[in-house]
Amino acid sequence: MKNLLESLVENNRIHVSEGKVASYIPELSKTNPSDLGICVVGLDGKEYGAGDFEKKFTIQSISKVISLMLALLDNGKRNVFEKVGMEPTGDSFNSIVNLEVKSPDKPFNPMINAGAIATTALIGGDNQEEKSERLLEFTRKITGNPEINYNEQVYLSEKETGNRNRALAYFMKSNGIIDGNVEEILDLYFRQCSIEGNCRDIARIGAMLSNDGVIPWSGERVVSREVSRIVKTIMVTCGMYDASGNFAVHIGIPAKSGVGGGIMASVPRRMGIGVYGPSLDEKGNSIGGAHVLKGLSDELDLSIF
Ligand code: DON
Repeated sequence: MKNLLESLVENNRIHVSEGKVASYIPELSKTNPSDLGICVVGLDGKEYGAGDFEKKFTIQSISKVISLMLALLDNGKRNVFEKVGMEPTGDSFNSIVNLEVKSPDKPFNPMINAGAIATTALIGGDNQEEKSERLLEFTRKITGNPEINYNEQVYLSEKETGNRNRALAYFMKSNGIIDGNVEEILDLYFRQCSIEGNCRDIARIGAMLSNDGVIPWSGERVVSREVSRIVKTIMVTCGMYDASGNFAVHIGIPAKSGVGGGIMASVPRRMGIGVYGPSLDEKGNSIGGAHVLKGLSDELDLSIF
């Protein structure tokens, strides 16, 4: 496995020059566009890494999977999907148009920014600190990494410049989709996006989802089989935004990307995969990471279809 991963990283490094690192969050533009790494975590707990798999990055939109799990645990399926839909959009991740024109009652799905902000608003806790701590503790548990933390610089950078997200949130407040203090909800959303980890951390989240909600290395159940199924299904249909169809056809693995360059993937009952490459395509997905995943999927016949 290790040799296979190493050759996939080396053979696909060439693609990193076809994309660009995200710069709309100023702090993200400081990453090295040539980085590329992968980690695979099997359901027996065995882990294999290659390339820059230990480099840290902010998980950005991969955190939408984490907040969706927490919101489902805290509120139940019915209450969550009253506030956010489960349909793909075909529009970019930060699109604003559907909120007014096509879907004023609720954002299309929890993986686009509007839907993720509405989902984050459902995370339980008595106050802002408690919500932020719960998010971190849950992430530490499902990654098995007690050192997981927020990246303060990236958090502040997005908090300062995240006006599109601010617009989405205030619009949803005006429509009654989100309740509570908008700035606090945004603050928690910006924090979750700034959670920092590496390929191993996200591969472990993928492995827990592959294992139907049970952490492979400890045997502890963290989410129900149903929550794990809902999350993986939404990852297939919406996880790669308006590239989800293409990704399903060519790679065929439930996956979630982030503009930090990570992709978390979960092959049901087989393995979790984390890839990292901050050079992104025009849809905001890691270009080298997607090529590495395609190579692995072809080689090991991982498509679920
Ligand atoms: O809200 C944002 O714009 C970012 N914090 C996260 C966006 C993101 O990761 C989209 N992913 N590909």
